[in-house]
Amino acid sequence: MKNKSIGSIFFLLFFLFSIGSNAQSTGGEKYRPAFHFSPKAHWMNDPNGMVYYNGVYHLFFQYHPGGTTWGPMHWGHATTQDFFNWEEKPIALYPDSLGTIFSGSIVIDKDNTAGFGKNAMVAIFTHHNQKIEEAKTGLHQYQSIAYSNDEGETWTKYKGNPVLPNPGISDFRDPKVMWYEQGKKWVMTLATKDRITFYSSPDLKAWKRESEFGVNLGAHGGVWECPDLFPLKSNGKTVWVLLVSINPGGPNGGSATQYFTGNFDGNKFVPNSTKEKWVDYGTDNYAGVTWSNTGDRKIFLGWMNNWQYANQVPTKAWRGAMTIPRELSLASVNGDCHLRSLPVKEISPSLKPVYKKGTVTNYKEIDLSAYAKPLDGKFKLDLSLENTSDFNIILSNVNGQKLIIGYDKKNNSYFIDRTLSGETSFEKGFAKKHSAPRLLASKEIHISLILDVASIELFADNGLTVMTDIFFPDSSIETIKIQSSAVNKLSSLSLSKIDQKQLK
Ligand code: FRU
Repeated sequence: MKNKSIGSIFFLLFFLFSIGSNAQSTGGEKYRPAFHFSPKAHWMNDPNGMVYYNGVYHLFFQYHPGGTTWGPMHWGHATTQDFFNWEEKPIALYPDSLGTIFSGSIVIDKDNTAGFGKNAMVAIFTHHNQKIEEAKTGLHQYQSIAYSNDEGETWTKYKGNPVLPNPGISDFRDPKVMWYEQGKKWVMTLATKDRITFYSSPDLKAWKRESEFGVNLGAHGGVWECPDLFPLKSNGKTVWVLLVSINPGGPNGGSATQYFTGNFDGNKFVPNSTKEKWVDYGTDNYAGVTWSNTGDRKIFLGWMNNWQYANQVPTKAWRGAMTIPRELSLASVNGDCHLRSLPVKEISPSLKPVYKKGTVTNYKEIDLSAYAKPLDGKFKLDLSLENTSDFNIILSNVNGQKLIIGYDKKNNSYFIDRTLSGETSFEKGFAKKHSAPRLLASKEIHISLILDVASIELFADNGLTVMTDIFFPDSSIETIKIQSSAVNKLSSLSLSKIDQKQLK
C-alpha cells in the first residue's frame, strides 16, 4: 500500500514535470520545436483552412496519418488562442470516393449564402483523384466543399461535390476563397498550372470564371501553388496582395512564395509592379497563406519546410512544423510597394528579456553565451547596428556545430549559413549558405531572430527582408557570439527567453 502511494507520487511528479516542460508535451524529442506548431505524429505539409472564429485561431493542415512521408492527404486540425500554445484536434477531413483532400481554405458564411446555416464554417478544398491521375487525362483535381456547424469539430461534405469540375488543366488546385464585399460575392483564387485563375460565386456552390493572371509575369521555375489574395492598406489606400507559392524555383532553391501587389476589382488583378518579390528568402517557408475572418488584420503562416528534402528531414515521430505566425503590412521603398512580415504581437508577453544593452561602440566581438546557455535553444534576439561593415551572429552548440546569420556589406545582403549546422547528410543540397537582398538604404540595420530548437527566423529592417531556415543540431544551441570584421557600432541589443510558464 505504502509503496503503491510512493509510486503514484513519483508518477504524478513525473507527469507534472513532463507537461510543464514543453508546450506540446513533447517528452524531449530531438528537434521538436516548443512553440511552433508540429503534429504529435506523422507527416504534415501546407497550412489549410486557416480561419478565426469566436476567439480561436483554427489551423487545418495537409496531413498523412499513415506515415511520416507524404501520402494520401487528410486535413489535420489544431487551434490556438495566443499563437504560442497549440492544441491538436481530431482529423477534420478524410479522403472519400472523389479523392484525397488537398489544400484549400475556410470561410465563415455569415449570411448563410450556401444554405448550410448562419455562420457555418465552409471549407473549399481540392479533391485529388489517384485513379483519374493514373488514367492520365489531366482531369484528376477539382474543387469541393464541406461544412461545419460546430466550430470545426465535425464536418459534412456537400452532396453536390465537386462544385468546380476540372476544365482540362492538370494542376488545378488550392482554392483560397474570400468575400468580396464591393461585389457582394465570393471570390476564389485558384492555382492553375503556370497562372492564377479567379472565379466568383454567390453561394460557394456555382462558380463562374472571371479572369486569369501571371502567365508571363513573376517567377516560373516550377508549378504555381497555394495562392492567396487580400487587400491591405498602404498610406490610406487599398492595395491588393497576391501570394503565389512555386515549386521549385525559389530564390535559394526549391520551394518558395512570391508575391505581387496591385489592384483587384472583383474581376481582374492588375499588378502595379513587375519586379520579382519574395515573401521570405529562406528555404523553409512554403505554401503560406493568411487567416480568414480577421478583418483588416492579415496574419500569415507557412509550412517550415521545402519539397527539396521535406520527405527526408531527420525527425522521427513526425515530419513538418509551421513558421511563427506573422502579421503582414505594406511599405513603400523607392516608390515600389513591398510586403513586410513581422511576428504577431501576441507572442510578446511570452518573451522575457534576460540581457539588455544600449549603445556599444568599438566592438569586434560580443559574447552572450553566459545568457544563452540556460535558454535551451529557444530565444529571441533583437539588435540594431550600423551597416558599416560585415557582421556575423554565430550560434553554436557543444558539438561545435554552428549556424551563422549575418550581413555581407559588399553585396548588401543578409545570409544564413547552415553548412556546418549539424545533421545535413540526408540531402545533398541542404548544407548551404542562403542569401537575401537588403531593400532598405538606412544606415542602421535592425534584426530580430527567433530560434526554436531546429529553426531560425530572421526579420531584418522591420520585416522587409525575411529568411526562414530549418537545421538539425545534435544538441541545443548554447553560445551566441556577435562578431564584426571591422570595429562596429551597436545601438541596442536584447536577448529574450521564451517564458516557459506561458507555455501551457
Ligand atoms: C503544396 C501542395 C499543394 C497541394 C498539396 C498536396 O505544397 O503541392 O499544391 O494541394 O501540397 O499535399
